[in-house]
Amino acid sequence: MQNKEFIKTWVEGKVGVIQLDRPKVLNAINTSMVREIVETAESFDREDDVMVIVIRGDERTFAAGADIDEMAEVDAVTMELRNQFTDWDRLAIVKKPMIAAVTGYAFGGGFELVLCCDMVFASENAQVGFPEVKLGVMPGAGGTQRLTKLVGKTKALEWLWFGDAKPASEAYDLGVINRLFAPEVLFEETMKVAHRLSEQAPISVRLIKESVNKAVDYSVYEGMQYERKNFYMLFATEDQKEGMAAFKEKRKPHFKGK
Ligand code: CAA
Repeated sequence: MQNKEFIKTWVEGKVGVIQLDRPKVLNAINTSMVREIVETAESFDREDDVMVIVIRGDERTFAAGADIDEMAEVDAVTMELRNQFTDWDRLAIVKKPMIAAVTGYAFGGGFELVLCCDMVFASENAQVGFPEVKLGVMPGAGGTQRLTKLVGKTKALEWLWFGDAKPASEAYDLGVINRLFAPEVLFEETMKVAHRLSEQAPISVRLIKESVNKAVDYSVYEGMQYERKNFYMLFATEDQKEGMAAFKEKRKPHFKGK
């Protein structure tokens, strides 16, 4: 077993396991934890002896969201400059199968991590959802996109707008969760499936994942909405005001990166 600051990792047979490990704050995901998860997933992706990656929490919970303490005081420009969500993008290009084993809560960024995975197994008493709207924000690590691809626009909007936690059984009915297990056997059953998958023809498994992911890729329209949001965000910066004022005054702009 190899422990990092916020995760534990080990390999069982041909399955690489990543366990979130901040139990005191219900595995709340801070930026360092994301970096550790991504770097470990990438290293499993490169390792010839690992065929499948399992991401799990502890017996009590998967993750209660992104770390609220870390972002409470941050402003929009700092968010843009920090650009922390690019680490999440790297998970989307991991080629080996990733399976989530969900106990307790998978909320906010925790649920986004679950939705980054290719298959989701959960204990019958787990709950999943996006409570961000109750904090005056919204999912920022792919949640609106991935949830909508899975459940469709109307169900995604209702879920996101009210921020309700749904029982795992409801998420299963919506097709978000592959299989439900009794809490005491969840990890064992998840590993059984992972071991079985790790024995399938590796290149076939890899190219099937790539092909299925292509089927749910961005359309041009969605990409344009994303672009537009960022465009609007720039009007919160001093540099936008300065750039346009300089144009009107026919002088060189002095940008400050604010
Ligand atoms: N960030 C930081 N700390 C968190 C946390 C989070 N997301 N979730 C829980 N914690 C901490 C609590 O502050 C508490 O710490 P203290 O003991 O120091 O007070 C500890 O974990 C235990 O939590 P609770 O006492 O609240 O446990 P509970 O069983 O009563 O409630 C819960 C569990 C319903 C999950 C509740 O903790 C909760 O609502 N958490 C926040 C959920 C949330 O809003 N997640 C979304 C975050 S925003 C996000 O994820 C944005 C994004 O997309 C990137």
